[in-house]
Amino acid sequence: MLDQFGRHIEYLRISITDRCNFRCQYCMPVEGLPWLPKQEILRYEEIAEVVRQLAPLGLKRLRITGGEPTIRPDLPALIRLLKAVPGIEDIALSTNGVKLPQLAVDLAAAGLDRVNISADSLQPERVVKIARRDLGFDLVQSALAAQQAGIGPIKINVVVMRGINDDEIADFAALTREHPWHVRFIELMPVGELRELTWDHVVPSDEVLARIRAMAPLEADAGPARGNGPAVYYRLPGAPGTVGVITPMTHTYCESCNRVRLTADGRLRTCLFGDHEVVLRDALRRGEPLRPLFERALAEKPKEHALLQMRVGGLRALSEVGG
Ligand code: 5AD
Ligand code: SF4
Repeated sequence: MLDQFGRHIEYLRISITDRCNFRCQYCMPVEGLPWLPKQEILRYEEIAEVVRQLAPLGLKRLRITGGEPTIRPDLPALIRLLKAVPGIEDIALSTNGVKLPQLAVDLAAAGLDRVNISADSLQPERVVKIARRDLGFDLVQSALAAQQAGIGPIKINVVVMRGINDDEIADFAALTREHPWHVRFIELMPVGELRELTWDHVVPSDEVLARIRAMAPLEADAGPARGNGPAVYYRLPGAPGTVGVITPMTHTYCESCNRVRLTADGRLRTCLFGDHEVVLRDALRRGEPLRPLFERALAEKPKEHALLQMRVGGLRALSEVGG
């Protein structure tokens, strides 16, 4: 599958719910969002059908996202369906990690290859403050549960917010000295319903790296095998894990964008930002072939997004579009 700019599209991010058990400050208002009605959400079998029709066109790798995907009942059942599709080589999950201690073994048995855990603090009271829910989340416990279940590589996503968690950069980086984990620091994108977070809270990744370099010199690193994304990786001397940065606010990487997104209600979005999407659900439910719709979506995949030019407030929360 090639888009109009010659980019190979091999990677699909699948949002399976717009809901979440957290209310992260940078993502959702405390009261939640107007959730999608259940009948509008694709059933697991419908998601698998989209993947079955895309795989012959070159789709190879999947990532399950949300909202929070682990709050949908029986997530391992979906992983099993997707794993059975010929051509699918790799299935990853993006999760807030709350349910990993409970689910990791079943997810691994179902065929989950990799996991990204979002974690913005290592301090219990601060986790509650940022996520605005007290669910007893402990990053190290969740990551160890995934590791012991044989899921890997394990990536940890930290959204850096000035004055909120930027004093923990060194603590997060230090995890990579003890564990074979890949800790990625993400520049805050001030999108969605944000009232509390502004451009002043954005910490440019160069500053994050400078703070880690104050611990020890960093060597450039290829990062985890089978990565799909735009992170740039480094390693602290002798560390089993790596640190990485993801820089949506200070760089664009649209020219190497290899992904499309399926929303929970069955729209294929070809760019995280803007309104480039094609509705698949109606054709899917009528039993029509989806290929013409895929082709239309790819023809419309934009060359680049306009995040850096857009004003705050005009963009949708990432929980709605799948991160
Ligand atoms: N800015 C930066 N990262 C965000 N994420 C969600 N919302 C934002 C935002 N406004 C991150 C989550 C997760 C990933 C899928 O996207 O923390 O790691
Ligand atoms: Fe939930 Fe992830 Fe959004 Fe936090 S960032 S509210 S964990 S979807």
